Amino acid sequence: MPDFYAVIGNPIRHSKSPIIHMEFARQTQQDMHYEAILAPLDGFEAAVRTFQQSGGKGMNVTLPFKLDAYAISTRLTDRATAAQAVNTLKFDENHGILGDNTDGAGLIRDIEVNQGVTIVGKSVLLMGAGGAARGAILPLLERKPYLLALANRTKEKAQVLQKQFSSHGNILSGHYQDIAGKNFDIVINATSASLHGELPFLPTGIFNKASLAYDMMYGKELTPFLKFARQQGVDNLIDGVGMLVEQAAESFFIWRGIRPETRRIIEILKK
Ligand code: ATR
Repeated sequence: MPDFYAVIGNPIRHSKSPIIHMEFARQTQQDMHYEAILAPLDGFEAAVRTFQQSGGKGMNVTLPFKLDAYAISTRLTDRATAAQAVNTLKFDENHGILGDNTDGAGLIRDIEVNQGVTIVGKSVLLMGAGGAARGAILPLLERKPYLLALANRTKEKAQVLQKQFSSHGNILSGHYQDIAGKNFDIVINATSASLHGELPFLPTGIFNKASLAYDMMYGKELTPFLKFARQQGVDNLIDGVGMLVEQAAESFFIWRGIRPETRRIIEILKK
C-alpha cells in the first residue's frame, strides 16, 4: 500500500503541490500518494486528525492554516519556531506531530542554486511583514547578507520583526518611503499585494543595474511588482514558482529522506 500525504488549505483547488509531489515520487520511485484536501475555515484540526488517523504520514499546509498548524504541532524545528508558522507536518508513530517550515529554505535554494545569485555580502530588501516575510528572515540572515532591510506599509510590524531578529545580523526596518535614495542587490516581495493586483508604494531608484527582483507570488503574467521592476530597468525578474517547488522538495526530503531533482518540474510549471 502507498504512503499517504496531502496538502491542506482553503481554497485548495488551484494548488500545484499534488503535481509536484507526484512528480517527485515518480522520479525517486517512492510508493506514495499525494492529494489535496479542502478544510472548512473552522475545521483545520479535525481534518488533520482524520487524515492522520486514516494512516496519513504527513501534510503540507497552505493558507490560511499555517498558524493553526504551528499551534497543533507537538514538536517544532528551529526554523518553524522563528517563522511562528508551519507549512510541513510529519506524523510520528505515537501520534506526535513534527511541525517544520520549509518556505525560507525553498526561497534561499531558488535564489542561490537555481538563479546562481549568492546572498553573502549583498544588500537585501524584504517587502512585507506578514507570515511570508517572517519565515524568510532567519534563512536570509543565515546567508550573511551585508544588510537586510525590512519595509512594510505598517511600519510597526516591520519594527517588531527587526527587534526579534536583530541578534542574527545587520537588519533595519521602516516604511517604503524610508528606503528612498537607497538601492539593493536583491529585492524580495513577500507582501500579499499581488493577490489583489496591487503594488506597495515603492520609491524609484531602489534597484541597481544588476539587481534581482524576486516575487514570492506568481501568475500567468508578470506580477505588478515584477512589472514595476522591469520598468525600472531590471533584467533579472523571478517569480515564486521556483520557491514553490523548492519548499516542496524540502518537505519531501523531510518525509522520505531523499532530495528530488527540481529543474524539470520548475520548467513544466513555468510553461
Ligand atoms: P502573509 O502571511 O501571506 O504574509 P499577511 O500576514 O496578511 O499575509 O501579510 C500580508 C503582508 O502584505 C503585510 O506585510 C501587508 O502589509 P501590512 O502589514 O501593512 O498590512 C502587505 N500588503 C498587503 N497588501 C498590500 C498593499 N496593497 N500594499 C502594501 N502592502 C500590502
